[in-house]
Amino acid sequence: MSSSPGGLSSLKWQIALGLGVAGAIGLTYWYMRSSKNQTLHAVEETPVEKEETPFQRAQRYKTEGNELFKRGKYDEAIASYNKAIDTIPQEYKTDLATYYQNRAAAYEQLKKWSAVISDCDKAIELNHKYEKALYRRAKAYEIIKDWENALDDVTSVCLLQNFGNQSALLMADRVLKELGKKNASEAMKNRVPVIPSKNFIKTYFASFSEDPVYKKLLETTQPLGQGELKGFLKAKLAFATERYEEIIPACTEELNLSEAESNFKNEALSLRASFNFLTGQFKEAVEDLSNIINAEEADLKIKVNALIKRASINMQTEQLDECLDDFDKAASLGIEVSDVFHHRGQVKLLMEKTEEARSDFEKAVELNPNFPIAVVQKCYTDYRHAMQTQNAVLLMRSLEDFRNAIEKFPSCAETYILFAQVQTERQEFSSAEDLYQKAMKIDSTNASVYVHRGLLLLQWKGEIENAVQLMRDAIKIDEKCEFAYETLGTVEVQRGNLIIAIDLFNKAIALARSEMEMVHLFSLRDAAASQLKIASRMGIGPTLMT
Ligand SMILES: *[C@@H]1O[C@H](CO)[C@@H](O)[C@H](O)[C@H]1NC(C)=O
Ligand SMILES: *[C@@H]1O[C@H](CO)[C@@H](O)[C@H](O)[C@H]1NC(C)=O
Ligand SMILES: *[C@@H]1O[C@H](CO)[C@@H](O)[C@H](O)[C@H]1NC(C)=O
Ligand SMILES: *[C@@H]1O[C@H](CO)[C@@H](O)[C@H](O)[C@H]1NC(C)=O
Repeated sequence: MSSSPGGLSSLKWQIALGLGVAGAIGLTYWYMRSSKNQTLHAVEETPVEKEETPFQRAQRYKTEGNELFKRGKYDEAIASYNKAIDTIPQEYKTDLATYYQNRAAAYEQLKKWSAVISDCDKAIELNHKYEKALYRRAKAYEIIKDWENALDDVTSVCLLQNFGNQSALLMADRVLKELGKKNASEAMKNRVPVIPSKNFIKTYFASFSEDPVYKKLLETTQPLGQGELKGFLKAKLAFATERYEEIIPACTEELNLSEAESNFKNEALSLRASFNFLTGQFKEAVEDLSNIINAEEADLKIKVNALIKRASINMQTEQLDECLDDFDKAASLGIEVSDVFHHRGQVKLLMEKTEEARSDFEKAVELNPNFPIAVVQKCYTDYRHAMQTQNAVLLMRSLEDFRNAIEKFPSCAETYILFAQVQTERQEFSSAEDLYQKAMKIDSTNASVYVHRGLLLLQWKGEIENAVQLMRDAIKIDEKCEFAYETLGTVEVQRGNLIIAIDLFNKAIALARSEMEMVHLFSLRDAAASQLKIASRMGIGPTLMT
């Protein structure tokens, strides 16, 4: 810049535009300086202000703090915010809240979490619905792993923003998972084993086409014998009469018998393992199954079946390598056993490896084309793969295969149910409804079909009352239907009945068999509990019904 008059006038123009009144003061100052040094500098010093009120001064300190913050000078920014906080008159509550919030932001950069939290505390005390401060405090609580408080704060943000803030939702999800893990591992220690519903037990055994022990249990040609039954035969009678609670002790009795007296050691191990699995006692189940797997003399079929069962437990306890390892062993030992491929296919489907799942199901059906559950699950897997790879030809074929499966196995409820789920996904709602009704006719005792149908009505027609009624019917039919409690709970959350929802989630938790399930259910419950707490604290959010 030169000292020519032209330079001067353009500078004046810029200053006036940029700084308003203060520009004039600056210009005067610059005049004095430039007349001394004969050099032109941009205005660089804070002008002396006239009659600045304490509030204006505080705002100036804040602005200064913000500038320092932007330049990464966090300690200096904090010093400016300190001055702002000390200067501002008490009645400027919202501004004071902002200063605390800004200072918290600087502390956050310095990773001083307890200072972040206490500044946010002050900001929120002054301004209860201060989203930024709530969100910042939630982040700090998350970092120091105070999940309970993190959840309450992030729930506040979600409610204030009507669940429209993606990053808050993701945080809520993370925090709920951590909180769920903490609660679940605690709850697993105090868990009381529960015999699941009859339907659940039936579904479990029905998923094996070649379980040699299950076959023995169903076999009625040989009379059980005279007099008082012992051991495995006693368990067999208990199974037939659905007195499931007697099965584990009867198997233990068999295992207590001397070698000479016992004919069913491996059968007793297998059956006890199944019931330990069904009651969520996974460690005991694995122990029995491993005994079969390691026994030299055990029958090949019983060994292969034990490997499949141990693989499923490894899946549920999230030990995926061990799970796949067991399946590999089962496949090499039982190359002709369709159950191996059917069950491995299910695991691969859960892992969303649809290509591998398909080749397993293909093998399973090839080995046993008359086992309806594997046939229909193959259709379902083909459908999933078609959707994933956008393969229209395969899609049409899978739908055709579903229809053929229904024709071939008209009395298997599973075929209707899976096809109905597919039709729901394709928004072929009336076809799905028709299929569910047929499934209900075949097996009116399967409560989970009622739940699925309720979900369909909700999605199709938004008929919330009818959907809730079907889910309540499901619970009436089967008071141990965990799926019904969980699903109805989420419906009640959606319509704001948080207290009812929490109660339903607690009932599902009492029935949960694995830690994985518990983590999920605790997350649902804790989310509802936090919403209830925050909504009443802030007087916002869902209406509170009891
Ligand atoms: C979410 O809310 C916080 C706090 O109000 C805000 O800082 C952030 O920018 C929001 N994020 C999105 C994606 O809306
Ligand atoms: C879940 O965790 C919270 C916080 O740790 C605790 O207050 C609550 O009692 C726990 N619930 C159960 C059932 O363990
Ligand atoms: C009950 O229905 C579920 C699906 O809702 C299905 O997976 C299961 O196989 C059915 N159980 C029986 C015994 O048919
Ligand atoms: C098995 O044997 C042990 C000791 O030998 C005994 O304590 C236990 O009660 C027996 N259990 C059954 C079910 O017979």
